[in-house]
Amino acid sequence: MAERETWTTRVGFIFAAVGSAVGLGNIWSFPFQTGSNGGAAFLVVYLAIVFLFGFPAMLMEFVIGRRSEKNPISAFGELGFPNWSFAGTLGVLGSMVTLAFYSVIGGWVLSYIVGSLTGAYFGDAGAFFGSVSAGGLAVGTHAIFMAMTVGIVAFGVQSGIERATKFMIPAIIVLLLGMAVWGATLEGAAAGYDYYLSPDFQYLTENIASIVPAAVGQAFFTLSLGFSVMIAYASYLGRDDSLPADGGAIVVINTLVALLAGFVIFPVLFAIGVEPGSGGTSTAFVGLAGAFGQLPGGAVLGAAFFVVLLLAALSSAISLLETPTSYVVDNYDYERKTVATALGAAIFALGVPTALDTGTLGWYNDVVFKLLLPIVVLLFALFVGWVAYGPSTDELTQGSTFGDGFTTLWLWWVRLVIPVGIGLTLVLGVQELLVKAQILESAVILA
Ligand code: PFF
Repeated sequence: MAERETWTTRVGFIFAAVGSAVGLGNIWSFPFQTGSNGGAAFLVVYLAIVFLFGFPAMLMEFVIGRRSEKNPISAFGELGFPNWSFAGTLGVLGSMVTLAFYSVIGGWVLSYIVGSLTGAYFGDAGAFFGSVSAGGLAVGTHAIFMAMTVGIVAFGVQSGIERATKFMIPAIIVLLLGMAVWGATLEGAAAGYDYYLSPDFQYLTENIASIVPAAVGQAFFTLSLGFSVMIAYASYLGRDDSLPADGGAIVVINTLVALLAGFVIFPVLFAIGVEPGSGGTSTAFVGLAGAFGQLPGGAVLGAAFFVVLLLAALSSAISLLETPTSYVVDNYDYERKTVATALGAAIFALGVPTALDTGTLGWYNDVVFKLLLPIVVLLFALFVGWVAYGPSTDELTQGSTFGDGFTTLWLWWVRLVIPVGIGLTLVLGVQELLVKAQILESAVILA
């Protein structure tokens, strides 16, 4: 079997991990979640969760990955606890289901790039969304997006993922910065900033029970946690890297990109008087495309925006495909190219129902967000905190300049705070899923 690759540089690893973290979650769902959950008040809760839960949870995946130097399924056996492989397996399954519908949305983005340049959505943004989001065209663009993802992963960790993300991340940041400057010149900019940044604390206190689980889900998803991706990426990492320092850098950059995206989206929407309000995925596409259609220079800026979205989605999709790929490549004597292609084809098939019906896509999304993701994070916390805490704390200090106090605090945080917080989120999420299923069932009976 070929020797296992590693990242060529520390920066290479950080770019790859930021590439995974920065995605549709930052540029798409973050601004809209913020908008529909009370603006700045949501932001405060969300930022607290990112740093208090997301950052320590990222370190859990890092220690499992780097200590074992194995893929997320074999890692647990390598650390001496083969019975726990199911936790990693669930994470890998989560990343495959996520990629199945994530790639469909990536396909929509491809259609929107073309649509910006041809002006196809300028007349009727709603009709355009309907025609590209579900049906034959959506299956086709899903296939193209998946092929691009496979193309990068097939080249491996260094010449595929590291090389691609080193170009993508700076491109995303530069383009977004440029667009934020352009956004500031628009007439609606002031109203947009106001909506984005002025807190409505009354809304927050009244809706805290729904805001917190939404913020937790968004925080973990945007940091690519709970899918074993960060186990896979950290397994290619050198021993002298500081895990807390790298994790901190990744969390901060990811948060800044999300904040920056808000500075583009809100001025654009307010420039033509669209209230972001209750923006689901589709409303968001329709509203923003509608705005680009009406603004001067909208064709070019719309295309630039959707290119940013494409790069962000691609650099996340490759991490989702790398996770199962690393398992097969580590354990079987197949070529990486063959493995990535076969897995890509299977995940493509899994995604076809969501390319045919946006309701099905919503279900995949809900099951991942509300069920799989919190279960996996909970299992990782129990494993790191209570089962393999010796090697875990040892690994955290390896290469790190953060003192023993930090390690102890982290351990107790992982043992107690994360399980309680995530456990509660899981209960609330399952409740929501059941209510949704019931509503659906009664609707079917009524019909
Ligand atoms: N973090 C990505 C985003 O914000 O769009 C999505 C994602 C990628 C989630 C990889 C999970 C993952 F493992």
